[in-house]
Amino acid sequence: MAEEKPILSEDKRKVTTHRLQEMKQRGEKIAMLTAYDYSMAGIIDQAGMDVILVGDSASNVMAGNVTTLPITLDQMIYHGKSVMKAVKRAMVVVDMPFGSYQGNPIEAVASAVKIMKETQADAVKLEGGKEVLESVTRILSAGIPIMGHLGLTPQSINKFGTYTVRAQEEDEANRLIDDAHLLQEAGCFALVLEKIPAELAKRVASELEIPVIGIGAGPYVDGQVLVMHDMLGINKNFSPRFLRRYANLFDDITKAVQSYIQDVKTTDFPSPDESY
Ligand code: KIV
Repeated sequence: MAEEKPILSEDKRKVTTHRLQEMKQRGEKIAMLTAYDYSMAGIIDQAGMDVILVGDSASNVMAGNVTTLPITLDQMIYHGKSVMKAVKRAMVVVDMPFGSYQGNPIEAVASAVKIMKETQADAVKLEGGKEVLESVTRILSAGIPIMGHLGLTPQSINKFGTYTVRAQEEDEANRLIDDAHLLQEAGCFALVLEKIPAELAKRVASELEIPVIGIGAGPYVDGQVLVMHDMLGINKNFSPRFLRRYANLFDDITKAVQSYIQDVKTTDFPSPDESY
């Protein structure tokens, strides 16, 4: 007999930083997924998602850019606002876009405040460790919760020059561990680890008290995040090893759209029942 899937949580309370912490303590895995618009965010929220990330991957999957770098603060706010209108239960985290927090802590606070004020989201996420610590501290001192992001940090793609697995060498792994501790000590409420060896992610998750959420970071972390377009199979040409596809919407949508075209061309649609 097939093993039964665990029952989805029936807890309808709003997910908060405190509740994520409790989930880590009791060993309940955290499910996180990206969303960028009202309609999809509403579906994802009512399905029971714990955290919705308004990722700067919107730059790729919504705007068609090659990297996450071009998306602006106002564009992230537009997506954040749309998502917030639909979400009742999930925690909503908005990515701070490239250029809105690096280098200048005063500008970083202004960017984070603008996101929180205009979207009414629950938290922000930003990439980096020691090099952005001043910005992290200033944003936290304004009372804004931060989710950190280490490992493969797509906003630094021009520095890395490749999207391959990060922190495979001891030096980089040690720097990542130090950065993870720095972010926790500064007061970040959670941390995303992207595309690093599973054993390293395991070590970080076990050393940190805050929840560690992985993407391509193996199973030994406190939760998982994926980009919605990837896991629904809307993107056909992105197949990293860490991705599990739960639907094949590219093909399903193509079929539906072609059926519609066919029905219009053959005058099958609209029928008398579909007319006034
Ligand atoms: O922007 C994004 O979607 C992200 C996830 C990949 C974690 O940062």
